[in-house]
Amino acid sequence: MNKIKSSEITPEHLYLSRRDFLKSMGIVSASAAILAACGMAPESTPEALAAAASDAQPTLPPSSSATDELGDPLNSFEDITNYNNYYEFTTDKERVADLANGYPTSPWEVQVGGLVNNPKTFSIDDLRKFEIEERIYRLRCVEAWSMVIPWMGFPLSKLLAEVQPKAEAKYVRFETIYDPEGMPGFKANPWYQWPYVEGLRIDEAMHDLTILSTGLYGKDLLPQSGAPVRLVVPWKYGFKSIKSIVKIDLVTEMPTSLWMAAAPNEYGFYANVNPTVDHPRWSQASERRIGEFGRSETLMFNGYEAEVAHLYAGMDLTANF
Ligand code: MTE
Repeated sequence: MNKIKSSEITPEHLYLSRRDFLKSMGIVSASAAILAACGMAPESTPEALAAAASDAQPTLPPSSSATDELGDPLNSFEDITNYNNYYEFTTDKERVADLANGYPTSPWEVQVGGLVNNPKTFSIDDLRKFEIEERIYRLRCVEAWSMVIPWMGFPLSKLLAEVQPKAEAKYVRFETIYDPEGMPGFKANPWYQWPYVEGLRIDEAMHDLTILSTGLYGKDLLPQSGAPVRLVVPWKYGFKSIKSIVKIDLVTEMPTSLWMAAAPNEYGFYANVNPTVDHPRWSQASERRIGEFGRSETLMFNGYEAEVAHLYAGMDLTANF
């Protein structure tokens, strides 16, 4: 896994700006020529295009690598932040960014309690005190699309260590903010059992691959990505990676997630990426990597089999889907 300390991350302003990069690649003038040929308005001069490009969010690093450990290229910042699942805003992946734009995510608190010796409420500043690392992970949605994302975050195990789970705690339950006035998806999709809830077994929650993310591409998370803090569990289908968390509880019983409540025969508690267990309505054998043509084979545990298969030794993965 790629890991870098926050102190080793080059400040954003030291990287080439998108404009400089485009210029260096000769892309600014080339795209200006293409747009001109398509009959764009006269203000689409190379200078105007370059200025517009420099206002856009960068598609470039900061990131420690251009690929994941398998050599798969990172998705662009634009892909990652403009094709989202966040049903509290909308079920239309390409409209989440617009509807979430400006959603207030500060101040914010995450209450951590339940079966713990030291319940604690974390502010965003408290969360930023954890050592932030970069983790380049594949995200495989249950809908069979995927991306490669350079997350910034820290292992969930470090936060759990601070609250000291009791021996009886067997599962971790996570809850997203419930804000029907501020997020239009609650009223548009009243049949879901809100708030969005997810869960992990405690050994899954303590696994080093499981992180709480506060950023990506070296920037704070945008609302559509689950600002200010979300879970990322890379060997499980993306719906486990719950966004905009306000509550974390240590519990004895397996939590019922929003998706388990909605369609228990389609979305199980474990939701481990598994190309041999199809969704009742589609195959899980292959996936569409956003930004690429064609499909690629889905990997067992999303390519993290060596790290996590032992967690499920002896379990029937077809029954425990
Ligand atoms: N968290 C909340 N609160 N609401 C959601 O609708 N969608 C899930 C997950 N977390 C979702 C959520 C699904 S289905 C996926 S695939 C991922 O978020 C998508 O994360 P992304 O939009 O950052 O790619």
